[in-house]
Amino acid sequence: MSFADRVQNPVLRAKIMSADEAAALIPAGAHVGMSGFTGAGYPKSVPQALARRIEKLHAAGEEFRIGLWTGASTAPELDGALAKVHGIDMRLPYQSDPTCRRQINAGDMQYTDMHLSNVAQFVWFGFLGKLDVAVVEVAGILPDGRLIPSSSVGNNKTWLDQADKIILEVNSLQNAGLEGMHDIYYGTRLPPHRQPIPLTQPGERIGEAYLTCDLSKVVAVVPTRQPDRNSAFAAPDENSKRIAAHIIEFLQQEVNLGHLPAELLPLQSGVGNIANAVLAGLDDGPFKNLTAYTEVLQDGMLDMLRSGTLKMASATALSFSPDALADFNQNIDFYRQRIVLRPQEISNHPEVVRRLGVIAMNAMIEADIYGNVNSTHIMGSSIMNGIGGSGDFARNAYLSFFMTPSVARNGAISCIVPMVSHVDHTEHDVEIMVTEQGLADLRGLSPTQRARLIIEKCAHPDFRPALRDYFERSLAGASGKHTPHLLEEALSWHARFLETGYMLPVSALQEPLHLV
Ligand code: COA
Repeated sequence: MSFADRVQNPVLRAKIMSADEAAALIPAGAHVGMSGFTGAGYPKSVPQALARRIEKLHAAGEEFRIGLWTGASTAPELDGALAKVHGIDMRLPYQSDPTCRRQINAGDMQYTDMHLSNVAQFVWFGFLGKLDVAVVEVAGILPDGRLIPSSSVGNNKTWLDQADKIILEVNSLQNAGLEGMHDIYYGTRLPPHRQPIPLTQPGERIGEAYLTCDLSKVVAVVPTRQPDRNSAFAAPDENSKRIAAHIIEFLQQEVNLGHLPAELLPLQSGVGNIANAVLAGLDDGPFKNLTAYTEVLQDGMLDMLRSGTLKMASATALSFSPDALADFNQNIDFYRQRIVLRPQEISNHPEVVRRLGVIAMNAMIEADIYGNVNSTHIMGSSIMNGIGGSGDFARNAYLSFFMTPSVARNGAISCIVPMVSHVDHTEHDVEIMVTEQGLADLRGLSPTQRARLIIEKCAHPDFRPALRDYFERSLAGASGKHTPHLLEEALSWHARFLETGYMLPVSALQEPLHLV
């Protein structure tokens, strides 16, 4: 389908212009809401044109930065291009770009790391200030001006509703067969007028297949023909396969105990290689007729849909490797029957996650012996990515899993520590902890019961003696026996790593450091 076929509305056709012309319409200091979620459906041309403009202005001594709001992470053409020219002064709600990360950790970019389900309502409430411009990728425009959403929905509905000016990028490389895959719910109201979200099954459709906007706010329509980020996934390594095996064995036990139906409950799976490996394990496992109520569909879920293990998946974005994308494009009619893409305030909505009884599986950076989880910070002060949707799901799930390899950096770091250096998920929201060493079912346990289980089941054997020693001395020495800590010592593991490159003093190692 040609670009001309993609823009069927005459009013919007008259607004077609180049990316450079459109970028010139964005004022300095603007809050700009761009589309994009996990490297899918982000605008590709306008951000790069804006970056060129900013570079020239900065060279001429003129200050120009924007506040950049998105659905979640984007790609080098958006976050990367704008960060490289120091064009972002404020970023929310999630990013994973190396240049942004460097600038945030250097204190040169402000970053508000938010629960992804909260962003839209924060904008409606006015908590984030005025949204000036929306830059949204779409797959096409119908004769009546309705917009065919692209490979992600994210916060686009909110950006289009709330922005003063709208720039649309029409990407003719996005499969025209995406039309009909989306479900945009327009029923949300502000308190005290809220009504229940009428969604009782992951595959239900409760909205419309199109985004709508006030056409008079559209200031530019920009043709694009560029692919999404489409990163490849690593083949599952041994640790990921072991983590997957522990989870599958546990789920089977829960079915046998009558805690879960044979077809489980809707799955949510975090991003990354471990999550993908768990899905591959599930695809090879005993379960059939599964459903997913998740944020992002990666290769693993596509495989499960193709094999029939998964019968239906709800998400807000598609994030595929090049091979998976080729399969998706070739079989889009098959997938359209089985995938629903929703705004992120619905895909991650606490009310719906709780109602459906989602099984949440998210990765983490570290956990402590009492079950608190750090998903975002390296050594307490440097952000990695952000909390993303992990809190939306973990807090409201039927079962909430957190998983990690037991050690990082070739075994120099234990991912199970006396006290996490930053808390994203508290002990109250972490139910099942999994490493390649084993699985700790923490439901209903007291802090000291949890500590013993986490150390024995999840910690790496190289670090277990030191963790046992810390716990027993805390129990003996702390004034409170409920969650005993030796406060001066609690974060000494991190401090020692920062000083020496190892978490344990060499004298504490029974054997030479185990390098994995
Ligand atoms: N201490 C210090 N560094 C650690 C660490 C620890 N305990 N554990 C991991 N790391 C480092 C790794 O060495 C790696 O660093 P590098 O990039 O410099 O090599 C980095 O953290 C990422 O680790 P990796 O093992 O590659 O993890 P991952 O790609 O599976 O990502 C998270 C793990 C937690 C960072 C990622 O899942 C995330 O951002 N989660 C938060 C958002 C989320 O859960 N979204 C899904 C909700 S739907």
